[in-house]
Amino acid sequence: MTRPASDLDGFRLWPGLLDRVAQEALRDAVFQRFRAAPFYIPRMPKSGLPMRVRMTNFGALGWVTDKEQGYRYQDTHPETGKPWPDMPEQVLDLWTKLSGYDAPPEACLVNYYEGDARMGLHVDSDEDAWDAPVLSISLGDTALFRIGGSLRSDPTSSVRLASGDVCMLGGAARRAYHGVDRIMTGTSRLLPKGGRINLTVRRVTVPQPAER
Ligand code: SIN
Ligand code: FE2
Repeated sequence: MTRPASDLDGFRLWPGLLDRVAQEALRDAVFQRFRAAPFYIPRMPKSGLPMRVRMTNFGALGWVTDKEQGYRYQDTHPETGKPWPDMPEQVLDLWTKLSGYDAPPEACLVNYYEGDARMGLHVDSDEDAWDAPVLSISLGDTALFRIGGSLRSDPTSSVRLASGDVCMLGGAARRAYHGVDRIMTGTSRLLPKGGRINLTVRRVTVPQPAER
């Protein structure tokens, strides 16, 4: 028996769910939105140290971080002051098909990994809607994704996330530590300048009865 990627229930992986044509369509939808919402360099709370990954968001709310105010969601881009662009239709469709959640997502964080960019182990914990899963869509170069349990000291396993793969952290895995060890440069030709784009789709606020 192969070891499950996470010791926690609720981690699911759909390898190659998006074929090449679907990847290209989603890539184009994502690139069209960069003009209105350019990538910015997020900074760690307190220290102000830059993260290696560049970020932007789509949807009503975006996850941002800076030295002064730290991790949070807000409805405007930190540099342009404008609302975030809407979420691509493909992203909303995937949420409807896969999430099993009865309210729409509010945030689509766009992470761009270039060169030796990585993301340290963390738990997504800035959302009030803890019962909603986090859906993750990978485009471009393959990532070595790491996922463990609800304690930082729990054992972890490594999962390759290739272009077109979709995974979900739901149930107990919603609180699992996870991160990206590295990007395997040159494994995909989807993005013109190489690298990897990851979209993480989330419900942030607890839905009002009328939304369900
Ligand atoms: C994240 O945890 O926010 C990103 C994960 C990924 O890039 O696959
Ligand atoms: Fe995360």
